[in-house]
Amino acid sequence: NWTMDRFVDKEIARIRALVGPKGQVIGAVSGGVDSTVAAKLMHEAIGDRFHAVLVDNGVLRLNEARDVKKILSEKLGVNLTVVDAGQRFLEQLKGVVDNPEEKRKRIGNTFIQVFQEKAEEIAAAAEGSSRAGNIEWLLQGTLYPDVIESISFKGPSQTIKSHHNVGGLPEIMHLKLIEPLRELFKDEVRELGTNLGIDQELVWRHPFPGPGLAIRILGEVTPSQIKIAQEADKIFIEEIRAAGLYREISQAFAALLPVKAVGVKGDKRAHEQVIALRAVKTTDFMTAQAFQFDNEFLSKEADETIVTSKPPGTIEME
Ligand code: XMP
Repeated sequence: NWTMDRFVDKEIARIRALVGPKGQVIGAVSGGVDSTVAAKLMHEAIGDRFHAVLVDNGVLRLNEARDVKKILSEKLGVNLTVVDAGQRFLEQLKGVVDNPEEKRKRIGNTFIQVFQEKAEEIAAAAEGSSRAGNIEWLLQGTLYPDVIESISFKGPSQTIKSHHNVGGLPEIMHLKLIEPLRELFKDEVRELGTNLGIDQELVWRHPFPGPGLAIRILGEVTPSQIKIAQEADKIFIEEIRAAGLYREISQAFAALLPVKAVGVKGDKRAHEQVIALRAVKTTDFMTAQAFQFDNEFLSKEADETIVTSKPPGTIEME
């Protein structure tokens, strides 16, 4: 019968056998639960022959690249390279205003290019070392629900949106895929992470999409919009933590809307952009319900972001 300890032992043995004594594996990490757990498992199995790459696409959470480096590299000992590619992504996103699928596509394609370039660099360096073989494997933190969703989304007429972290890369890079989590549900990945000694704070982290804040900034993605979205997200998540609701909520975030309304900042009327806050409860991320905040939380949250009481504000939005 199935236990997590046995899963870990079996999976490490399977990875070692698959990759061989000199085999090298590369994989993108995001700082999320799935890729962190997958990376830690690879590190346990083959040490520094697993190369983790974090692509900073410029639309991550505030200080995310720095924090991920701290956890993965310093705490968990994973062999990590961080690529600062924010400018490149920003260039690609210029002028994309009202087309979310185009945003996703451009981010996905840029991600593949940046990752591929870095992978080639790492591969060239690895080849120079006599102990190492070529990089032949690509790690993906695919979970069971990803497998199901990507199957049921196939076909041009049924594509609701493209999840850029599934598919694409292995074919382009001629790499074989290694997916240690593909039979697990999210709660099992969390259990596995705990079992591998990963901090509870990370294990229970809300998911964050590959295209990042770009799909939470409605309208054009610019440096100033990113800054607002990052700050708003930070405030919202801090308030949720302070209210002790973080674990009860499955995923929460702030989105920046491309409309302006009248509110109050300090004691002055302001005509500024509107933030939308979303929080959901779900077990599998395939279906979700809105989380019900109480009014006290909501008015406190409104105070933290912008004051909308009257006076000196208005009841109407304009
Ligand atoms: P949806 O919007 O599909 O979100 O109900 C379900 C979960 O997936 C995340 N999400 C994405 N993750 N690339 C990702 O890596 C994407 O393009 C993407 N779109 C949504 C979303 O944050 C939620 O956790």
